[in-house]
Amino acid sequence: MTELISICEAEMMAKFSDEGSGHDWFHILRVRNSAEKIAMAEGANVEITILAALLHDIDDHKFNGGDVYAGPIAAHNFLISIGAKADVAQSVADIVNQVTFKGAGVDTPVSSIEAACVQDADRLDAIGAIGVARAFAYGGSKGRLLFNPEDAPGLHADFESYKSNQGATINHFFEKLLLLKDRMQTATGRALAADRHDFMQQFLFAFFEEWGISRMWGSEK
Ligand code: ADP
Ligand code: NI
Repeated sequence: MTELISICEAEMMAKFSDEGSGHDWFHILRVRNSAEKIAMAEGANVEITILAALLHDIDDHKFNGGDVYAGPIAAHNFLISIGAKADVAQSVADIVNQVTFKGAGVDTPVSSIEAACVQDADRLDAIGAIGVARAFAYGGSKGRLLFNPEDAPGLHADFESYKSNQGATINHFFEKLLLLKDRMQTATGRALAADRHDFMQQFLFAFFEEWGISRMWGSEK
């Protein structure tokens, strides 16, 4: 492990150890480890991938009033401050800029294999059992309802409408989480997403059944 990686790990652990919306240090650590695994399988630059995974949520638009440029700038400046070369800081900033999901109708292309690895790793942590837990932690932190049968999900055509949406947490599954398996950028990510996707479908099926609704928005098995 390089010194830059150790310093970034220490910084992010200190900054995010008690974050309460599912964007805590352990999210960052899981993304770091998945991204490393995907990078090794895909032949990507492992150091750049790990640095970007560690810094991907350093100043997220969901928690800074909607500024999408703050994250890449903060990642870049932090790396320069700890002695990274300019090209490393720039590559990492470019990746951080390409990770975030922006709505069902918005394409989020990647410009490098390393960005593909980090985007896939972050999205893997949004699905499956951990994805379910994180979605409700996030919804709770924002004061959202679990579910409102009268509030149907919408497939957002642009980032602005996706960002400003205040819907119940169950809607987030239809607006983002169930779409992720088909948007994986790498073969390794796609393979890892399959079981996690199936688990979310089972979860939704049981949730609606317990609520007394047998079918909802395509959640049937
Ligand atoms: P991204 O940058 O793609 O949003 P993050 O790692 O920052 O990825 O966080 C995404 C996670 O935050 C989601 O997968 C989910 O767990 C949570 N989240 C974001 N928006 C919502 C929402 N409206 N309702 C519930 N959870 C949400
Ligand atoms: Ni993340």
